[in-house]
Amino acid sequence: MNVLFIGDIVGSVGRKALKQVLPALRSKYNPHIIIVNGENAAAGRGITHAIAREFFEWGVHGITMGNHTWDNKDIFEWIDEEPRMVRPANFPEGTPGQGLALIKANGKQLAIINLQGRTFLPPIDCPFRKAEELIEQAKEKTKNILVDFHAEATSEKIAMGWHLAGQASIVVGTHTHVQTNDDRILPGGTAYLTDVGMTGPRDGVLGMERNAVLHKFLTQLPTRFVVDEGDWHLHAVSVQIDDATGQATKIQKIRLTEDDWLLMQ
Ligand SMILES: [Fe+2]
Ligand SMILES: [Fe+2]
Repeated sequence: MNVLFIGDIVGSVGRKALKQVLPALRSKYNPHIIIVNGENAAAGRGITHAIAREFFEWGVHGITMGNHTWDNKDIFEWIDEEPRMVRPANFPEGTPGQGLALIKANGKQLAIINLQGRTFLPPIDCPFRKAEELIEQAKEKTKNILVDFHAEATSEKIAMGWHLAGQASIVVGTHTHVQTNDDRILPGGTAYLTDVGMTGPRDGVLGMERNAVLHKFLTQLPTRFVVDEGDWHLHAVSVQIDDATGQATKIQKIRLTEDDWLLMQ
């Protein structure tokens, strides 16, 4: 089976990019299952039900989240009723939503797990132990398992890759919004990429309007960040999994700018 995972969709520019590019990505990579990270989809802060529904209409099969999960209050109204969405599994016991979901599409099954790092992020439960626990649970249903490790530190993400090598089919990182160049298949058949990167405005700072970010760096004053406008870039990863073993056989990074895409039309 082929899995397409698209990095953090940021604001309306990111959503527009996703909608425009999905048909082309579908015909080029033939994904059976498409997963996106949606933690910044609503103006950079969380996701709304309307946006999630739009993603599903466009052909997305599952959504992962991150540290911005709760930024949009709308989510509390529907997260417990949405089986296709995961938020970090290592949030405290009793947190709304789920950290593991089984996605079924096009005759294939993929368990998706979301975890959040603890280095340079709020202290939460151990993502490494939580990963082991959820992979055991996932394996009762399928060998095909994707982990989105939403974390800041490259070291923590690489360590998670090794921790889950041979246990998960795919371990990819999100959160930094910058795609790394270390895609590989780890021993045991785990496709790994430290960070997938983002989908949204290209000329801001991680998707935010750059003058506000610069003002903050220059003055250290409280500054309100808004999502940038203008041209987008999209970052994703395509992984081929041998369904019989759950092992990844191929990983390809995807990086597309709006200019590249327009030339393709
Ligand atoms: Fe993000
Ligand atoms: Fe994040």
